[in-house]
Amino acid sequence: MFTRRVAVVGTGYVGLTTGACLASLGHQVVCADIDAVKVERLRRGVVDIVEPGLSELVSEQVSAGRLSFVVGAAQAVSAGFPGEGAGELDAEIVFLCLPTPMGVGGVADLRAVEAVVEETRDLLAPGTVVVNKSTVPVGTTVRTAELLDRADVSVVSNPEFLREGSAVHDFLNPDRIVVGCDTAEAAERVAALYARLGAPTVLTDAASAELMKYAANCFLAMKLSYVNAMAELCERVGADISDVTEGIGYDRRIGQAFLSPGPGWGGSCLPKDTHALLQVADAADFEFRLLRATIDTNTRQRQRIVDKVRAAVTGRRTGSLTRVRLGLLGLTFKAGTDDLRDSPALAIAALLRQAGADLVGYDPALVAGGSDGAVDGAVEGVAREVEGVPLVSDPVEAAQGAEAVVVLTEWPVFRTLDWSAMAGVMKQPVVVDTRNLLDPATLRRAGLTGIGLGRREA
Ligand code: UGA
Repeated sequence: MFTRRVAVVGTGYVGLTTGACLASLGHQVVCADIDAVKVERLRRGVVDIVEPGLSELVSEQVSAGRLSFVVGAAQAVSAGFPGEGAGELDAEIVFLCLPTPMGVGGVADLRAVEAVVEETRDLLAPGTVVVNKSTVPVGTTVRTAELLDRADVSVVSNPEFLREGSAVHDFLNPDRIVVGCDTAEAAERVAALYARLGAPTVLTDAASAELMKYAANCFLAMKLSYVNAMAELCERVGADISDVTEGIGYDRRIGQAFLSPGPGWGGSCLPKDTHALLQVADAADFEFRLLRATIDTNTRQRQRIVDKVRAAVTGRRTGSLTRVRLGLLGLTFKAGTDDLRDSPALAIAALLRQAGADLVGYDPALVAGGSDGAVDGAVEGVAREVEGVPLVSDPVEAAQGAEAVVVLTEWPVFRTLDWSAMAGVMKQPVVVDTRNLLDPATLRRAGLTGIGLGRREA
């Protein structure tokens, strides 16, 4: 079987998934991280992120001898692979899967990428292909090649399109593989790593590959801002957003996916990438108004949810939330993850607190032993705080004495809660469902008034 020696630098969502999945495709993979404690835990098969199937895959590939972990990029790229006899071999392909957080003015901060290039420059074997998987501004692949300053090493852009919460599935069932490089041979070597997946492959130049990642995420953000605006319009004209999105989704040019209204899009990717693309456009002297409106609509969505809660609790859009107790269900940026980065739920919680409300939060991913996944550090039965929101370990506790329960994350488990028990402990029987997750009839039967987004009954 065709196998390559692959080093993966960075063991976040993208790096760890890439490493484990490439190993499962038969490649020999060494993953590096600067965090020695994390590396030690990974060696023992302990994965600290909530990602379905990932820890099983890591353990399986470590046991099969195809996946190992080292501290520092230098060790991974050079002599990290067992060779014939006593010899050791260098990596043939080096993936950079590093954080590129939003820096000053929305510009992606590339310091982690630059530091690894600096560290490994003189260690790469001739003929190595360096692959950038991090989401980076257009021009970074060329810039990385300049920084490396090695005529015998190629740099390739190979953006990743996986979603948190279904990372392993998305990696192994990609809609497409994108490889951008000006050297055809290097691009083909990278594309060949994925050959077994049988996905359509787009071979292009580095700038187009880099832009494609932003273009995809910003298009998705635009789709959601459009749906959230449309939900608001539905409320004003007496239409129902679920029917509208179902109807437009049958048009194959639009598609059914990514059409659920919500509290706004968040997470570690869409907010960062929309701002970064705006910067790319600004730098190219292009006024990307559509993208700006996409971001503004999303920011406005948070206030809209607060106004909805205010109206639901007080009966008036301008009513006071001072000392009003609210139970928040779901704090992660979406279901299926423990990730709180740029979570719309937390942004809305901050606005509600500013308005004087007393908040209590429950999230299954933030409770030790939670039914949908637990995180290390969550303390069983003991409330801790997330950004000023005290946590409880039971949804009924969150509802205790509340004047409204606000569903902010679409955890499936919320659908089947004992809503009668919830209603029994609430001060006022109101549920604001910002994900249109709950069945209105179930809430009604429990004696609750359910208020969704863009719903006819709302
Ligand atoms: C996103 C993209 O979907 C991936 O393709 C991409 O690879 C990834 O960013 C990345 O750049 O690494 P992710 O951040 O995991 O993935 O989250 P999504 O599933 O895209 O959700 C983003 C936000 O949109 C969440 O806040 C989610 O709740 C919201 N959303 C999503 C909705 O409000 N409605 C929907 O119908 C779908």
